[in-house]
Amino acid sequence: MSKLIFEKGVKGSNSFRLPSAGLPQPDINHTLPPIFLRHKDTDLPQLSEVEAVRHFTELSKLAYGVDNGFYPLGSCTMKYSPKINEWAARLPGLAALHPYQVPETIQGALQIYYEMQEFLAEITGMDGFTLQPAAGAHGEMVGVMIIKAYHLYQGDRERTKMMVPDSAHGTNPATANMIGFDVIEVKSNQRGLVDLDDLKSKMNKEVAGLMLTNPNTLGLFEEEIQDIAAVVHEAGGLLYYDGANLNGVIGVARPGDMGFDVIHVNLHKTFSTPHGGGGPGAGPVGVKEHLLPFLPKPLVVKEGELYNFDYDRPLSIGKARNFYGNFGVILKAYAYIKALGGEGLKDACQNAVLNANYMRHQLRDDYNIPLDRLCKHEFIINSKKQADPHGISTMDIAKRLIDYGYHPPTVYFPLIISEAMMIEPTETESKERLDDFIAAMKIIAKEAKEAPELLLDAPHNAVIRRVDEVKAARKPVVKWEAP
Ligand SMILES: Cc1ncc(COP(=O)(O)O)c(C=O)c1O
Repeated sequence: MSKLIFEKGVKGSNSFRLPSAGLPQPDINHTLPPIFLRHKDTDLPQLSEVEAVRHFTELSKLAYGVDNGFYPLGSCTMKYSPKINEWAARLPGLAALHPYQVPETIQGALQIYYEMQEFLAEITGMDGFTLQPAAGAHGEMVGVMIIKAYHLYQGDRERTKMMVPDSAHGTNPATANMIGFDVIEVKSNQRGLVDLDDLKSKMNKEVAGLMLTNPNTLGLFEEEIQDIAAVVHEAGGLLYYDGANLNGVIGVARPGDMGFDVIHVNLHKTFSTPHGGGGPGAGPVGVKEHLLPFLPKPLVVKEGELYNFDYDRPLSIGKARNFYGNFGVILKAYAYIKALGGEGLKDACQNAVLNANYMRHQLRDDYNIPLDRLCKHEFIINSKKQADPHGISTMDIAKRLIDYGYHPPTVYFPLIISEAMMIEPTETESKERLDDFIAAMKIIAKEAKEAPELLLDAPHNAVIRRVDEVKAARKPVVKWEAP
C-alpha cells in the first residue's frame, strides 16, 4: 500500500522558501490572547517539490473514472462526457458571472436557462420546468412538495399516503416520508413490472400519488404505464416520474405522453455531466400545466425580447435552492443537447439499449439473468450459477472485476432481486470495450468454478484489499492521527 504523505515527509525537506516580510517581528504574546496561540509546531508533512508532485500524481492514478475506463454502474449512467461541454461551462463570460447580477447584465445566461427549460419540456413532454434542484433526490423532494401543494390547494387534506413500487430507488420512499407522507409499497409481478392488481387494491382517496421509474430499476419498460396512470388519476392521485433512467427512452418516448404529471431528470446522468465522488449534479423538475403554478420561484421567463426572473408566483412552493441551480452543470447539459440535437439524443438512447442487450445476450451462458428478455439501457445478472459449491457471491464477482481493471457494476440493488448485479454499459462505449468486459466476466465465471479463492480473496491488485464492508460504512477511518 502506498504511504500517506505524512509518512513520506522527512524533517527539513522543503518545497519552497518564503521571502522575508522585511518588517520587525511582532511580539505575538502581547498582541493575541493566549487561547489563540500555538504551543507546539504543526505536524505538516515536509517534502521536497518533486516528492510532493510524485505523491499527488500517484494519488491521481488511483482514482477511477470514465476517463480511465469502462464504468458500468447500473442506475448511474456513467457515460463519457465530451470535453467540449467542460469548455463551454468554463467560458469566462458564463463562469465569471455573479449570481447577484441584475437581469439586464446577464441576458445570455438567462437565455440559456430559458432555452434549457424549454428543451427539457420538449424532450420529456412536460409543460414547464424549474432548473433549481441540485440533484435527483432534491428534484424528488421538490416534485413531491408540488404534489402536496396541489392537493392542499384543491382542499384535499385526506391524501396522506404516497405509493412507491418495491423496486424503487431508496430515495423515493425517503423523499415521500420526508415530505410527510406514509409510504405504501406496491408489489412487482413475476415479470418485474408494477403489479396492476396490487396497485388497484391499494389505491384510494388517501393516496396522493405514485412515484415510478420508467424504465424501472430492473431496466424494464413498464408496459402497462397507461393503465397505471389511469388507475392513479381516476382515484385523484398524481403520477411522479423518477427520471434517473431517462437514458433508456430519451428521444423515443416521453414521460409526459405516458401520463406522468411531475418528473425530475438527472442532468448528471442522461445529459452527460460527470458525476460520482460527490461532484455537483442537477435535478430539474418538470410539470404538466395543472401544476405550473406550484413550481419553485423564480422561473426564468421571456418578456418581449428580454429574459427575466419571475417571482410573482403566489402558489409557488417557494425557493428550492439558493440562486437558480448549479449553473455549471446546466451549461454542460445545454452544450450536450445542442451538440446532439433531437436525432442525436434518440441515437444515444438506441445505442444505450443496443449495448445493454448485446451484453445481456453475451453473458447469458455464464451468468443467471433473472429477467432475461429485452431490456432498456441496463440489465441485471446475479451469482446463482456461481453460488455452488464454493459460495461465490455477487460481491466476490464485483471485487474480482477490480483485478481486471474495471469499476464494478452496481451490486445488491434493486433489493427485490437476490444477489443483484446491475450492468449499464451506456451508449458511449465501443463494441471492442464491451467485448473486453464480456471476456473478463467470462474468465471470472470460469475462475469461480476452477479457482474460487481468486474471487473469494479479491481484489488482489488494488491498493485496498477486501474490507469489512459494514465496518467501513459504520466506522470509517478517514483521518490520519499523529502517532
Ligand atoms: C432510480 C434513481 N432514483 C433517484 C436517484 C437519486 O438521484 P441523485 O443521486 O442525483 O440524488 C438515483 C441515483 O442513483 C436513482 O438511481
